[in-house]
Amino acid sequence: MAEELRAAVGATQLLTDASVVASFESDWTGRFRGRARCVVRPADTAEVAAVMAAAARAKVPVCVQGGNTGLVGGSVPVGGAILLSTARLTALEPVEVVSGQVTVGAGVTLAALQRHVRAEGYDFGVDFAARDSATLGGLVATNAGGERVLRYGTTRAQVLGIEAVLADGSIISRLGGLPKDNTGYDTMSLLTGSEGTLGILTRLRLRLVPLLTERAVALVAVDDVAAALSLVRTVRNRLPSLEAAELFFADGLALVRARTGLSAPFAEAYPAYLVLECAGRADPTDELLEALAGSEAVRDATVAADPRGRHLLWSYREAHTESINSAGVPVKLDVAVPLTALAETVAALPATITAACPTARPILFGHLNEGNLHVNVLNATSEAEAVTDAVLRLIAAHGGSISAEHGVGRAKRAWLGLSRSPQEIAMMRAVKRGLDPEGLLNPGVLLDSA
Ligand code: FAD
Ligand code: MLT
Ligand code: ZN
Repeated sequence: MAEELRAAVGATQLLTDASVVASFESDWTGRFRGRARCVVRPADTAEVAAVMAAAARAKVPVCVQGGNTGLVGGSVPVGGAILLSTARLTALEPVEVVSGQVTVGAGVTLAALQRHVRAEGYDFGVDFAARDSATLGGLVATNAGGERVLRYGTTRAQVLGIEAVLADGSIISRLGGLPKDNTGYDTMSLLTGSEGTLGILTRLRLRLVPLLTERAVALVAVDDVAAALSLVRTVRNRLPSLEAAELFFADGLALVRARTGLSAPFAEAYPAYLVLECAGRADPTDELLEALAGSEAVRDATVAADPRGRHLLWSYREAHTESINSAGVPVKLDVAVPLTALAETVAALPATITAACPTARPILFGHLNEGNLHVNVLNATSEAEAVTDAVLRLIAAHGGSISAEHGVGRAKRAWLGLSRSPQEIAMMRAVKRGLDPEGLLNPGVLLDSA
């Protein structure tokens, strides 16, 4: 096996030193750990295919890891798997200006893609705080959401082509980039969100959006979720250029301020806060200020149009993940409910969580327009299962999803039946069996290995 892997990627890219391998064996949060027999770092699709063919011959599982910023334990190896790192799949092909498309390696980070396409007057429709480490392969494999879904949709809406290596080492390459192509099953959509269980993504063809440099960001204090929803409806009706509406609460703000040293945004404290961002060809500041002035939901607000001011206002929101993690290893749940049930769900969550674990400290924040709540629970590691169960059952009872954007991974596999019917799960299993009959790709992620 080792000889075949060495032949596939070259001696220097097969890592077996225990201390080096260990750095690939735990996740970003520190909650999930596993064991890998080695790490391989292929340079292109052909090398990935050679690794997978060798693994298939030896019936050894392969775990795929991109930037390792995933939050559901999906990038952590189990059972002595080969850990395949996409760190060297970093080709950035020239932007195709006429179509507004680009083809990139799966190991390219979101920030590197942004720099590359912005130089050509384009932008990418998905953005979030892990941009410096998260890779395009990871974004597509998890169908990442983020802060701009309101305007551009999730990662799935940006994917126009995929090259991938299947479990038997064969390659599918569909990088033509045709926006219209109804020739049967949608390969791209099937692999998008498959969390590395159906194939290893090696190259991606992506739809780009126009680069909008005129921007205004508002940090707004509101009383509650109902007020936040009403404000977003008002702003969105007046400014179709709205591209972000992010929600957080007083307890999350306190953690962020303790971690970052940021000052209080307003003279008074309020229960809830929204970050709104508008972007267009003309400066949206005045229109945004007018919309805020016309809404009774606004208790206080501050607006910035210059890059430093915008960055500062975003920090109150984007620093949540890191600030929560610095206070302890959280149980992280990422759910969505219909907007009609959002206020009620936010009100019910703290009591639901403390009933499952009296020491628990819940911190909520999220992407308001999609009803996407990040339910982070500190001081609950020993009761992680009970807390997860209570929260996900509450969400299912409200007609929600147990995973809005992070995926199922290992963390929520046992609860998949709360969001998908037995028939759908049977269909997923049939697809998995058809493409990966030996269960070699990311075993235990999304579906159990049985
Ligand atoms: P990894 O963590 O390496 O892997 C994630 C999953 O994808 C694993 O199952 C892995 O096996 C699979 N995978 C990775 N690469 C490939 C590939 N080439 N082929 C097949 N499978 C592959 N997520 C959001 O959706 N929205 C957010 O707003 C958001 N914000 C975040 C903020 C912070 C600070 C952090 C730490 C995380 C955030 N995330 C967010 C979660 C995470 O960044 C995303 O899930 C991201 O898409 C993962 O990319 P990655 O390269 O780190 O993937
Ligand atoms: C975010 O929106 O910041 C994330 O998805 C990360 C998290 O849930 O912590
Ligand atoms: Zn998020």
